[in-house]
Amino acid sequence: MVTLAVYSNKGGVGKTTTAVNISYMAARDGIRTLIVDLDPQSSATFYFRVKPKIKKGARGLSSRKKPLDKSIKGTDYPALDLLPGDFSHRKLDAILSRNRRSRKLLLNAIKQFCKEYDLVVIDSLPSISASAENVFRAADLLLVPVIPTTLCFRTHEKLFEFLSKKRYKGSMVYSFFSMVDRRKRMHLELMDTMRASFPGFLETEIPYLATVERMGITREPVPASDPFSLASEAYENLWAELAQRIEAV
Ligand SMILES: Nc1ncnc2c1ncn2[C@@H]1O[C@H](COP(=O)(O)OP(=O)(O)OP(=O)(O)O)[C@@H](O)[C@H]1O
Ligand SMILES: [Mg+2]
Repeated sequence: MVTLAVYSNKGGVGKTTTAVNISYMAARDGIRTLIVDLDPQSSATFYFRVKPKIKKGARGLSSRKKPLDKSIKGTDYPALDLLPGDFSHRKLDAILSRNRRSRKLLLNAIKQFCKEYDLVVIDSLPSISASAENVFRAADLLLVPVIPTTLCFRTHEKLFEFLSKKRYKGSMVYSFFSMVDRRKRMHLELMDTMRASFPGFLETEIPYLATVERMGITREPVPASDPFSLASEAYENLWAELAQRIEAV
């Protein structure tokens, strides 16, 4: 089983959108996939038309003793299940920062599923606190969406500083440009600068496209609702690049 966390310490960069599309494509390609929605707003859960609720809420997710399998829901797609978000996940940081042992709670929770799934995709929260450290410990790979803006550049610097200070392996971080507008010179310049400054950027860029925003209405992954769109082509390319990295783990 490989665990891939879609993570950024910045909000609104496309984490959930990516986690939903990637999970769908993995399952479609026959990979038994579980998507874990850590967001108290439960956006991934909403996209998959599932009711947000997990047994015992945040305590259930972070407990060693309570098995989580009763909380798992099927989706409309074969081979793709969901561990729904829950409003109580707003308390996750407090629960996960209680003591040193709490740093592996998410890792241990996810280990429960190693027989049932080939891939676990975590839709993370935009934080660099206790829940993020739990995500870093649980994940084999981090996939980081980056909008080519100055603020995202700074956030990316902070992430790499943090990962090296805490001695997490830098090689497990893959990034890609999200919401790209190639008409903007600043986007083009910043993409060049960032590719030269940070390791692990994938080739694929996801453009800023209305088809992606419409996921809120269709409540379907883009490659399911609109398989011949530019947006689907971009996500298919991203998935092709990522699938190779997942295989190599
Ligand atoms: N490539 C894109 N083109 C246009 N809109 C996009 C694109 N990617 C994401 N969006 C839109 O941007 C908004 C934020 O995306 P998303 O919810 O995936 O970000 P997030 O990083 O998960 O946010 P949060 O930090 O709040 O969890 C959503 O309305 C989504 O539809
Ligand atoms: Mg999100």
